[in-house]
Amino acid sequence: MLTVFDHPLIKHKLTIMRKKETGTKDFRQNLDEIGGLMVYEVTRDLPLNEIPIETPLCQTIGYEMAKDVVIVPILRAGLGVVNGIQNLIPTARIAHIGMYRDEETLEPHPYFEKYPSNMDEAAVIIVDPMLATGGSSVAAIDMVKKQGATSIKLVCLVGAPEGVKVVEEAHPDVDIYLASLDDHLNEKGYIVPGLGDAGDRIFGTK
Ligand code: PRP
Ligand code: URA
Repeated sequence: MLTVFDHPLIKHKLTIMRKKETGTKDFRQNLDEIGGLMVYEVTRDLPLNEIPIETPLCQTIGYEMAKDVVIVPILRAGLGVVNGIQNLIPTARIAHIGMYRDEETLEPHPYFEKYPSNMDEAAVIIVDPMLATGGSSVAAIDMVKKQGATSIKLVCLVGAPEGVKVVEEAHPDVDIYLASLDDHLNEKGYIVPGLGDAGDRIFGTK
């Protein structure tokens, strides 16, 4: 299932990120804030356990999360989404998938992976600001499935229709969340209107 957020705060902050004059500090800050706003909806269906508790007044039933949450950033740019989510789920574990997209072939090249031991039981949230051709997202989902993950969500900021289709066809069981579904990919595989190279804008590189 694809969810595209329709929220004024997200639209406002994403517009700041899209502007070419926005510098690294503001780009990162708005990415952080959008991550935090998206997590409320992304985690809406997480299972809970009922637990007996005592308030200062009486005994009652409370709730605690039934599953561990594992956030999986696709390096590098995915790192920029972690903080906003982790602020709201401070117990989340952070896995890492290192991957770069070949600028000529647009094929993803994984170079690193590191996971906690309970991927099969966890609620796994893969994060990356950009879903362009979908190659990186599909490869990352393949990798977490190899680790036994069955509850997987993909959270990106900006997606292209072409890439969303690729991910939906390869992994129909994975819910996709976007702050914006943009218009198309250009001939270099960049999302249009997009926001440029997310990794470079987050880390101030070129
Ligand atoms: C970007 C982006 C995604 C990928 C999307 O990363 O952060 O991971 O490209 O493209 P795709 O959908 O066509 O696979 P990049 O490889 O540029 O690395 P970076 O995060 O180090 O900038
Ligand atoms: N990666 C980016 O950082 N931006 C795009 O538009 C596409 C892939």
